[in-house]
Amino acid sequence: GEHVAIGILGLGTVGSGVVRMVHGHQEELQHKVGCKVVVEKVLVQDLEKERRVSPKQEWLTLDPDDVLSNPNIDVVIEVMGGIGLARKYILQALNNGKHVITANKDLMALHGAELLKTAADNGCDLFYEASVAGGIPIIRALKEGLASDRITKMMGIVNGTTNYILTKMDKQQLSFQDVLKEAQELGFAEADPTSDVEGLDAARKMAILSTLGFSMNIHLDDVDVKGITGVTKEDIDYARQFGYTIKLIGNARKDDGKVEVSVEPTLLPDTHPLSSVHNEYNAVYIYGEAVGETMFFGPGAGELPTATSVVSDLVAVIRNMRLGVNGKNDVAPQYEKQLKPLDE
Ligand code: NDP
Ligand code: HSE
Repeated sequence: GEHVAIGILGLGTVGSGVVRMVHGHQEELQHKVGCKVVVEKVLVQDLEKERRVSPKQEWLTLDPDDVLSNPNIDVVIEVMGGIGLARKYILQALNNGKHVITANKDLMALHGAELLKTAADNGCDLFYEASVAGGIPIIRALKEGLASDRITKMMGIVNGTTNYILTKMDKQQLSFQDVLKEAQELGFAEADPTSDVEGLDAARKMAILSTLGFSMNIHLDDVDVKGITGVTKEDIDYARQFGYTIKLIGNARKDDGKVEVSVEPTLLPDTHPLSSVHNEYNAVYIYGEAVGETMFFGPGAGELPTATSVVSDLVAVIRNMRLGVNGKNDVAPQYEKQLKPLDE
């Protein structure tokens, strides 16, 4: 057609970034997909709220059906967060034949298999690049760039908020609570920041990366989690004296068909490259049997970096629409294999 119309669920940090990217990068988008991209409807909870972008009045709605059952809308972008309603809306959108893009790692870590199957059954795409490591195209790296290899290990920093907190506690004399507040104001933290500081957000991301990288169904419950709430300024200063930095590190390894995944505060020598990953930045090492060691680095949270991943997913969806291959990407669905814990 002449244009592709999108509906957006949520207009917070990420949703605002998506609107800004779709408008500000219209020329790049048209160049890459050969048609205009227009915002048709945006679901919010509060019509009067002041926002990072000024939405057109006719976009905003409180009724999910204005997006999910809107015959004009081809692609639904879920950036509202949460699990129950987000799952329901995404399933509804897919069953209505709409392609879906989500930044929701909570949902993908818990219900990814179900959602991906529903997408495939409906001939729809379901892309989730923004769900892990914000602006870093790491899902695409695993799905495409490293698709030929056998991934043996993944390790790195996958939560921006906690890395921001640890960096500021180290470099400045600020309390945990003050820095957390800053991270929230900057739009890095989850609606409930407990997920960030208790390591759960990182665990969800490691579950998603392991599922993709190891081609197994790795569940959130399979991840051992420890957050940073127990880390004090004294711990950080003490580590620094001995040439170490404390980082929240996600680790996943696969050995002989068995998998171990964990997230925990870790002492790294200052000379370790992950020690110099600061603020909301993320970095992930991926080891493959053939390729050896690769490293991916970039902003892990925030409005425009995250929106870049979301809108690049949109480019991928529209390209697939032109080719008529939506929902046909995954030849061997990852949900067929089950996890064998290391200690079995
Ligand atoms: P925000 O809290 O900033 O925005 C959420 C938006 O969704 C708000 O506009 C809110 O409406 C709307 N919303 C929430 N619940 C409902 C509901 N029940 N019905 C209608 N609208 C609803 O979140 P973020 O933009 O930060 O995050 C969105 C998603 O992206 C989450 O899944 C998050 O984990 C993920 N993510 C976030 C990143 C970041 O850096 N912030 C990075 C990567 C992923 P209203 O404004 O009216 O209250
Ligand atoms: N709260 C998340 C973080 C957002 O701080 O990493 C990006 O997924």
